[in-house]
Amino acid sequence: MKNVFVMDHPLIQHKLTLLRDKNTGSKEFRELVKELAMLMGYEVTRNLSLKEIEIETPVCKTKSKVIAGRKLGIVPILRAGLGMVDGMLSLIPAAKVGHVGLYRDPETLEPVEYYCKLPVDVQERELIVVDPMLATGGSAVAAIQFIKDKGAKSIKFMCIIAAPEGLEVVRKAHPDVEIYVASVDEKLNDHAYIIPGLGDAGDRLFGTK
Ligand code: PRP
Ligand code: URA
Repeated sequence: MKNVFVMDHPLIQHKLTLLRDKNTGSKEFRELVKELAMLMGYEVTRNLSLKEIEIETPVCKTKSKVIAGRKLGIVPILRAGLGMVDGMLSLIPAAKVGHVGLYRDPETLEPVEYYCKLPVDVQERELIVVDPMLATGGSAVAAIQFIKDKGAKSIKFMCIIAAPEGLEVVRKAHPDVEIYVASVDEKLNDHAYIIPGLGDAGDRLFGTK
C-alpha cells in the first residue's frame, strides 16, 4: 500500500504480542508502548538528512556526520498518544512536543477536538504524529488537518495498530502523509474497535476501566 510502512522487526512483533494480551497490566502496558515507540521511531527517522562536520577525536581531526535539515516535532494525539512520547524523546531529545486533544464520540464515532497546542515554528519542523490506534481513521484525519491548518508542511503518522478501513481513510484524506505501523489488523467490529486489536489503548495505559 503506497505511503504505508509496516514494521515487521521481530522485537516490534514480540512486544506487540505482549501488548495485545488482556493479562498485561497498566505498568507493563505503558513500558511496552514506550519501547515500541522507540523501536518504531528508529525506522520513522531512517531518512533524516545528514551533514558532515569536522571534529577532533583523541587521535586526529576527521569529518563525521550529524543530523541536518529541519528540526523535529512530536505530536501525540491525547490521551493514548502520550504513551509514545517518552520513547520518541529518548531517541530525539531535542524534539519539541505539541499536543492535539481529541476523543471519539461513542455515539457518532466522530472525533471531537478539545485541545491543540503546537510549537510556534511548526511550519519549519518535520512533525511525527503519534497515536497507538488508528481505527476508523477519524481521529488521525482530524488531527493531521488541525496541524496542517496551523501551517505544518511535513507530517508523518506513526501508530502501533491500524485497521485496514481506517488506513484507507487517512491515505485518501492526506496522501502526502507517510504512515508507519507495527500491524495492520483484520477489521473493525460493530463498535469500531479493532479486531483483534488490544482493546481501548487509553484505558489500558492509564488504568481508567
Ligand atoms: C482512541 C485512539 C485514537 C482513536 C482511534 O482514542 O487513541 O485516538 O481512538 O479511533 P478512530 O481512528 O476511530 O478515530 P479515544 O477516542 O478512545 O480517546 P482517548 O485516547 O482519550 O482514550
Ligand atoms: N481506540 C482504541 O483505543 N482501540 C480500538 O480498538 C479502537 C479505537
